[in-house]
Amino acid sequence: MKKLKFALVGCGRIGQRHAEHIYNNGELVAACDIDYSKAKLLGEKYNAKPYKDINDLLTEQKEVDVVSICTPNGLHAEHSIRALRSGYHVLCEKPMCINVPDCGQMIQEAEKANRRLFIVKQNRFNPPVAAVKKLIDENKLGKIYSVQLNCFWNRNSEYFSSSDWKGTKSLDGGTLYTQFSHFVDLLFYLIGDVKKAYAFADNFNHQNQIEFEDAGVVALKFYNGALGTINFTVNSFAKNMEGSLTIFAEKGTVKIGGQYLNELEYQSLDGFKIEGLPEGNPPNNYGKYIGSMSNHDKVYENVVDVLTNGGVIATNGFEGLKTVEIIDKIYTQIGNNNGKS
Ligand SMILES: NC(=O)c1ccc[n+]([C@@H]2O[C@H](COP(=O)([O-])OP(=O)(O)OC[C@H]3O[C@@H](n4cnc5c(N)ncnc54)[C@H](O)[C@@H]3O)[C@@H](O)[C@H]2O)c1
Repeated sequence: MKKLKFALVGCGRIGQRHAEHIYNNGELVAACDIDYSKAKLLGEKYNAKPYKDINDLLTEQKEVDVVSICTPNGLHAEHSIRALRSGYHVLCEKPMCINVPDCGQMIQEAEKANRRLFIVKQNRFNPPVAAVKKLIDENKLGKIYSVQLNCFWNRNSEYFSSSDWKGTKSLDGGTLYTQFSHFVDLLFYLIGDVKKAYAFADNFNHQNQIEFEDAGVVALKFYNGALGTINFTVNSFAKNMEGSLTIFAEKGTVKIGGQYLNELEYQSLDGFKIEGLPEGNPPNNYGKYIGSMSNHDKVYENVVDVLTNGGVIATNGFEGLKTVEIIDKIYTQIGNNNGKS
């Protein structure tokens, strides 16, 4: 079968992971970064043409099937829309973007261009997450009563000072966008859409360094009646501690835990036991900090399956939008509460 041709925009930390998986699942033909040395480095490694400007890439690379967007959060919408308008399918890193109207426009542009828009949410492939999703889809948990999401990670001062965009309102958007949008996505994926959010947040340990909160607490009410809480922080002392989701339902209680929702920590299910879960991939290790589970192999397998085999997109633009809407509801509340003090 003919290999799909990919172009990569943004050759930073996660862009390099994308390049590896593109190589395993297709062909990387072009790599673009405003820091041209990064594009050149990846270009040399994978025999891809380097570019400094996305517009040159989009004009020249007529053979490309998919453009993978790995630039800072605040540029996802602009870069995805340009690529869609130029006639390419798009795989966009999480978060889809950092405001609701931009998500809507991305979806519309994909429709107009008749191209596919994929959003990266690789935690959906974590074995315990997939197992719990199956339980819920088969109605083995019954009615979901409530959920608790804990996001206890460490992002120290060096993490932010070594990046020119992380911690900025315009390009990063907030802790819930950069660190925890995967986790928020799982609330939507497993529990449902959020009707109302109430929240408080503060910046305790990164003042004068980041333009938003480093910790927050959120109470949620879902449309299906379930209640939820999120307790999130990047102040877990010295290292990541936990990324966990506990669900209390009519026919069972289940906790997905570990540092990044990679372990099934607790289960008490009515006449049922989840057993024999596969090991799963290790986390993305960026040297000085640890990220989410490294499931980008599954993301690219899905892209190939959809574009060559009629498969179904693992996370589509509508679902990407839902995460952004939920985070937007939370940040609107935080803004209101901070204003009132
Ligand atoms: N799915 C995941 O687990 C995961 C993990 C890490 C990062 N991400 C997401 O991936 C994106 C990139 O994060 P990162 O950690 O790799 O950041 P990074 O800073 O290491 O890389 C971003 C790259 O984009 C380049 N860039 C900036 N503006 C550009 C432009 N106009 N044109 C072309 N290139 C441009 C920068 O020079 C840089 O090399 C972010 O949206 C982030 O949220 C996702």
